[in-house]
Amino acid sequence: MALQNPGRRGFLKNGMTAALGAAALPLIAPARGLADSALLEMEQEASGKSAGAALVKLDFDRRIGEIDRNIYGSFIEELGRCIYGGVYDPGSPLSDSNGYRKDVMRAIEDLHVTVLRWPGGNFASGYTWKDGIGPKDQRPRRWDTAWQETDPNQFGTDEFLRYCEKLKVEPYITVNMGTGTMQEAADWVEYCNATTDTSWANERRKNGHPEPYNVKFWGLGNEVYGSWQAGHKDANQYAADALEFAKMMRWVDPTIKLVAVCDNSVDWNVPVLEKLVDIVDYASVHHYGGSLDTAKEILDSYFFERQLQAMEGLLTAMMGRRRNKEPIAIAADEWNIWFRSWFKRGDPHKLEETYNLRDALWVASSLNIFHRMCRSVKLANLAQLVNVIAPIMTNEKGLVLQTTYFPFQLYAEHSGNVALDAFVRSDTFPKMPHVPYIDVSATTDDKNGKLTLAIVNRHPTADIAVDIEIEGFRPRASGVVFEVNGPNLDATNTFDSPNNVKTVRRGFSGAGANFRRKCAAHSLQVLLLERA
Ligand code: AHR
Repeated sequence: MALQNPGRRGFLKNGMTAALGAAALPLIAPARGLADSALLEMEQEASGKSAGAALVKLDFDRRIGEIDRNIYGSFIEELGRCIYGGVYDPGSPLSDSNGYRKDVMRAIEDLHVTVLRWPGGNFASGYTWKDGIGPKDQRPRRWDTAWQETDPNQFGTDEFLRYCEKLKVEPYITVNMGTGTMQEAADWVEYCNATTDTSWANERRKNGHPEPYNVKFWGLGNEVYGSWQAGHKDANQYAADALEFAKMMRWVDPTIKLVAVCDNSVDWNVPVLEKLVDIVDYASVHHYGGSLDTAKEILDSYFFERQLQAMEGLLTAMMGRRRNKEPIAIAADEWNIWFRSWFKRGDPHKLEETYNLRDALWVASSLNIFHRMCRSVKLANLAQLVNVIAPIMTNEKGLVLQTTYFPFQLYAEHSGNVALDAFVRSDTFPKMPHVPYIDVSATTDDKNGKLTLAIVNRHPTADIAVDIEIEGFRPRASGVVFEVNGPNLDATNTFDSPNNVKTVRRGFSGAGANFRRKCAAHSLQVLLLERA
């Protein structure tokens, strides 16, 4: 299927086949649709080619809709050094009395993350949540079949939810629809949310949290369509089971929001959504992209947008069957670049991807997509947050912020809550007339009091002049610009050299109804302007 996830493909190739031997090969998911030969033809990317001026037109009457701040979510999984040695490191001088790394918490706060998904991912499909509560010295150590490592069960439900409380982020829990039962899922909702005098709610009280945690977001399993998942099911099996899980969980707490597992295939999505149309609030989409070639990586942004548009179309088509008037929204609850670092049994540093500036521009473009599609994309989780395919990397002495940290931070901190429909005219990548160098999103607030304009120049070598024309809003002449850039697209931040790619903040003047900005090659510029 055209939008097949290369991360999972790699995972299957390198993880499953290593673990299960050649017999696993027939299970490998099909390659992504654009034939490799076509992709190869695009390899003559634009280096050396200049680009003409671009045009961005904004009209403050042309609003797309409200941006849900839950799109600035992220994800922590019991995998490699994400939680143990990342988020949670009880022996470390850098940790607080709960074992949470204080430097990591500060970096997450500065990132302005709004939602945190846990415990997986693939891990969720084998997780027994009841192992992870109560006195820590009595919790069992379990073998995690998903990532083939020991789970010490020291970071469980209370540790996760208290972490969310401290960070003031909304928790999002994925229940085990692989090896788990609907009763366990319902018990989990009771443990987290119930105020009743019943055993699991009382267990929570006994464990030191008298008030309910009020966990709003619950995922009905993870990637159940994939052979790499414990308890993999076909669409009809999943739909039937998910309906029963959903009923049981809602009968404990009718207010929870439920996320159905969807895929890039209508063969999966149609039967699943037909069955779950009246009970779920979100349909999940996962997307992992990435390439060392700029044109291919940027083309992947185009695929991501098409993938989300395809899901939006399907959800619109489903609306006729839905009694609930609220449309089902899209939860892009795993998205990132992931193609270099696979899973090897025995390796503690699983999925430790080093991100470059190219990847940071892809992240900026993805956030532009979420803004442009704000009517349907209402929840999103950058996968993941710490050490594992993550913007934040730790060692025992401190942390480093990867390139992808900076665009995410700028969007999450400075975007307005209303997306504007920006018209963009820009030269395009060679052989990709549908993929412009300049990629934009524009946001304002309820009162049209400000403009946040994010401009990504994806040209690998050329600065591009961007003419900006604004109707219905006259900005003050002076504003603030944040620029994310580095020496070249391959630039990375590492412990030895942590500041190659960073955000630079400057004041600028000359803004008005019509003005021009020079956007440096391979950069993100976020302009903040206030109404005059
Ligand atoms: O984020 C890494 C893995 O990618 C997740 O565990 C899984 O859901 C996906 O395949």
